[in-house]
Amino acid sequence: MGNFPVFFHVLLLCLTLCPPRFCDAGGESFVFSSFAGAGALTLDGAAEVTPEGFLKLTNDMVSIKGHAFHPAPLRFKASPNGTARSFSATFVFAIAAAGAGYPGGNGTDGMAFVVAPTKNFSDAAPAQYMGFLGGGAMNRTFAIELDTYGNAELRDVDGNHVGVDVAGLYSLESRAAGFHDDGDGGALKNLSLDSGEPMQVWVDYDGKGKQVNVTLAPVGAAKPSRPLLSNVSDLSAVLAEQAYVGFSAATGPIKTRHYVLAWSFAMDGPAPPIDFRKLPKLPYYDSDDRKTPSKLLKIALPTAASALILATCVAVTLLLRRRFAFAELREDWEVEFGPHRFAYKDLFHATQGFTNKNLLGAGGFGKVYKGVLPSSKSEVAVKRVSHGSSQGMKEFVAEVVSIGHLRHRNLVQLLGYCRRKGELLLVYEYMPNGSLDKHLYGGGEDGRPALEWARRFRIIKDVASALFYLHENWEQVVVHRDIKPSNVLLDGEATAHLGDFGLARLYDHGAADLQTATTRVVGTMGYIAPELARTGKASPLTDVFAFGAFLLEVACGRQPVSGGERDGRRAMLVDRVLEYWRGGALLETVDARLRGRGGGYDAGEARLVLTLGLLCSHPFPSGRPTMRQVVQYLDGDAPLPELTPASVSLLSMMQGDGAFDRALQCPWSANSIGTMTPDISVGR
Ligand SMILES: *[C@@H]1O[C@H](CO)[C@@H](O)[C@H](O)[C@H]1NC(C)=O
Ligand SMILES: *[C@@H]1O[C@H](CO)[C@@H](O)[C@H](O)[C@H]1NC(C)=O
Ligand SMILES: *[C@@H]1O[C@H](CO)[C@@H](O)[C@H](O)[C@H]1NC(C)=O
Ligand SMILES: *[C@@H]1O[C@H](CO)[C@@H](O)[C@H](O)[C@H]1NC(C)=O
Ligand SMILES: *[C@@H]1O[C@H](CO)[C@@H](O)[C@H](O)[C@H]1NC(C)=O
Ligand SMILES: *[C@@H]1O[C@H](CO)[C@@H](O)[C@H](O)[C@H]1NC(C)=O
Ligand SMILES: *[C@@H]1O[C@H](CO)[C@@H](O)[C@H](O)[C@H]1NC(C)=O
Ligand SMILES: *[C@@H]1O[C@H](CO)[C@@H](O)[C@H](O)[C@H]1NC(C)=O
Repeated sequence: MGNFPVFFHVLLLCLTLCPPRFCDAGGESFVFSSFAGAGALTLDGAAEVTPEGFLKLTNDMVSIKGHAFHPAPLRFKASPNGTARSFSATFVFAIAAAGAGYPGGNGTDGMAFVVAPTKNFSDAAPAQYMGFLGGGAMNRTFAIELDTYGNAELRDVDGNHVGVDVAGLYSLESRAAGFHDDGDGGALKNLSLDSGEPMQVWVDYDGKGKQVNVTLAPVGAAKPSRPLLSNVSDLSAVLAEQAYVGFSAATGPIKTRHYVLAWSFAMDGPAPPIDFRKLPKLPYYDSDDRKTPSKLLKIALPTAASALILATCVAVTLLLRRRFAFAELREDWEVEFGPHRFAYKDLFHATQGFTNKNLLGAGGFGKVYKGVLPSSKSEVAVKRVSHGSSQGMKEFVAEVVSIGHLRHRNLVQLLGYCRRKGELLLVYEYMPNGSLDKHLYGGGEDGRPALEWARRFRIIKDVASALFYLHENWEQVVVHRDIKPSNVLLDGEATAHLGDFGLARLYDHGAADLQTATTRVVGTMGYIAPELARTGKASPLTDVFAFGAFLLEVACGRQPVSGGERDGRRAMLVDRVLEYWRGGALLETVDARLRGRGGGYDAGEARLVLTLGLLCSHPFPSGRPTMRQVVQYLDGDAPLPELTPASVSLLSMMQGDGAFDRALQCPWSANSIGTMTPDISVGR
């Protein structure tokens, strides 16, 4: 406990010392002009980031390895069998051998820039294999070796060469280290890799031309126009779809330090330029180092201490950043809902980080993304509902989970949820054929034929059967509250599934936060029953009212409310159908595209649907049928009651009286979730 404040000081220090320098939006390029504060690398073995800001892969030990990788994998291919994308990397490195007693590079070991499907090289061999030989991933590894050991076994050209290694340590091609000096007519100049001098390497792969270029130059020199190595070689078969980029180094019997001072990388373009002003200064070997251990200790001890602190910082920052990125809200009461709880991390990965590419749609309650769960590989739709307050959240989640127990072939199955600060994520089964409104209104301009009558009638029956189940066939009554075509989803077999049930409740709970005397009615304009607008109380019969509007909409192919902006009056679909009914021409209201040539519909069914739509639109709840009756009428198990002149006169009276209009002309936001403040205040 006594260490706690110390821990916090260290933490604070870390946070100020290690600003998140590593930051890129797309995750497809990055640049480290120094590694100071770059707490984002995955290090292992002897690798460390020193306080001076360079990446030190190996230290003064013999027979050790060190690896450093960019933590997140990069997408090198669009699909497992795709062609490898172009990429480009550049880095500044230095290899310094202790005592500098082995000129010509025979005896020290090299390092490599590696692209591999794994970051785990724990069982790779050290020494002349540069720390990346071995492991099952070898045949999927691409590397550029900076080899300072002439290995006969690997048919190396000499003890100071640069090589392109594809799926193994045998170089596809290698050249003695050097560069074509543009200032000297492109003459080849030698370089000694293990001189301790920093040098820059460029690795460019052209995905179209399938060409790998490797260019070397002393640090600070411009990139030579002619690469040292250029080989036509298709990396598609070697690179994994997702691979890690990083460095590997190893030492043999000679103490050697492998440094990386700066590094940048980009997919599909040149690597971002390195800012050489930020380049860390290398501490050169003092040849007396080994003879005067006291002096070494004097330097090494504080260095080691600060390295330790920095490593702790890096670890803590990494941990914290990870925690923040995938933070969730989790409370004790949720324990019982455990099986329905999804990890945010899984949903994040499933939807590829909620990219727009995966966006299925955006509705009143939030955006919906398509995803593939990493564990089961099953397709899901993830809905992100932003929700500011946690009030009522417990009740809501309890309800969501209990709704998760609802099973019906015409309901969109809710699989579970996840809670974060300010948002709720709901996971549903995925419906490949989208929502009904797209099919209903999709005909015409995009060349799609109008949804045929037989399918409309089936969809109506499906939705009715789902609502009947919610209202009467389950252990408790569930009111849907938001029936409309955009909440009806079609699966691959064109069966309709009712979705989004219960969501409107969340906004009811939210209304309590407003602390005002007004009430909020949630639903969609044209589907809100008059008594719901008045009292804000939803019931199965307010669902029936919405279902009536839905029936008319599907049969007529028109929205329940249209126009309104131009003449200040909205045209109600129910009025129109009623007018035609009175005129004895009810079937004239059927979707014009079905009445026209190439259309066709069943007159008996259409009459049934339209009349039932009017019955369900009755202004008084008691005048509406229940969902049980609706299902019976639709199945032909009970005769539809005649629309009596009495009920019609009531309907028209309500209209003439304006009450109907009043109830429907409140200031809703158009065609989405409506938040309205009725002019009738609710007595509380
Ligand atoms: C990918 O390649 C493998 C083997 O080369 C093959 O079996 C598979 O069908 C291919 N997949 C696609 C989508 O082309
Ligand atoms: C790395 O791989 C080895 C065996 O291949 C395994 O034993 C080890 O647990 C792995 N390490 C990590 C961190 O995954
Ligand atoms: C890589 O090697 C493993 C076994 O070591 C083998 O199963 C796999 O098919 C190989 N992959 C390729 C692309 O050669
Ligand atoms: C490295 O040095 C050893 C011993 O000095 C020698 O036998 C060997 O041939 C050298 N290798 C190369 C590639 O120069
Ligand atoms: C450059 O290196 C090659 C091979 O190591 C050697 O043959 C050549 O003499 C060297 N040239 C210079 C100018 O040192
Ligand atoms: C590789 O080098 C060749 C020859 O200089 C050049 O034509 C080509 O554009 C280079 N390719 C890349 C990807 O840099
Ligand atoms: C490239 O690599 C191949 C082996 O895949 C090799 O035969 C060829 O000589 C190399 N050089 C060039 C310039 O393509
Ligand atoms: C989606 O609906 C269209 C008609 O709107 C149909 O032709 C198609 O077969 C459906 N797709 C699937 C996967 O069922």
